[in-house]
Amino acid sequence: MSNDKDATSVESKGRRYFLIGMTSAASVAGAIGAAVPFVKSWTPSAKARSAGAPKICDISRLRAGELLEPMPAWRGKPCFIVGRTPEDVERLKTEQDDLADAASEKLDRQPAYARNPWRSRRPELGVYIGICTHLGCSPKHRSEEGDFYCPCHGSRFDLAGRVVKGVPAPDNLDVPPYSYLSETEIIIGVDEEDLAAAKDLDDAPERA
Ligand code: FES
Repeated sequence: MSNDKDATSVESKGRRYFLIGMTSAASVAGAIGAAVPFVKSWTPSAKARSAGAPKICDISRLRAGELLEPMPAWRGKPCFIVGRTPEDVERLKTEQDDLADAASEKLDRQPAYARNPWRSRRPELGVYIGICTHLGCSPKHRSEEGDFYCPCHGSRFDLAGRVVKGVPAPDNLDVPPYSYLSETEIIIGVDEEDLAAAKDLDDAPERA
């Protein structure tokens, strides 16, 4: 009889420990489950990281007088990459009278290579943020007219992204930082002097 009582006591003790263990495990699991959404909100998603990553663009297929398609985006902004003919290059140098800021003196945030008649590293290729400086619409490239035209309120920019006088847009199109990786590739989001350091970044460049 006494043996039976001992056995029952041991069994109920074991069950108690088991229940306590299960309750603790459930509590820990619950705490982890509750923490996951917070952790997720702290950790930027791969998509968010890649949105800010530099963008490598193949320019080998771009012809003079055309806009690179599909249009690459950098930091969520469309980028115009425009090829220029020898006539475009000459025209941008000589026809400046109707421009509001022909020498690109107004915007401090522009890179040094935005301060020439082509607002680019090389005259034959221009790289601009494709967002109108009036209220943020997307201007259209017009190859016939050789300009960018914003249909929202009629602003116009020349092929170097310089705004013409008398339109609603106050400033030239922005020039993003960019560099040549080779004769056929540029990288948007990195200046030449930062290229070596960019190779060590976590945000690996993406191909457009
Ligand atoms: Fe382009 Fe107004 S947003 S002209």
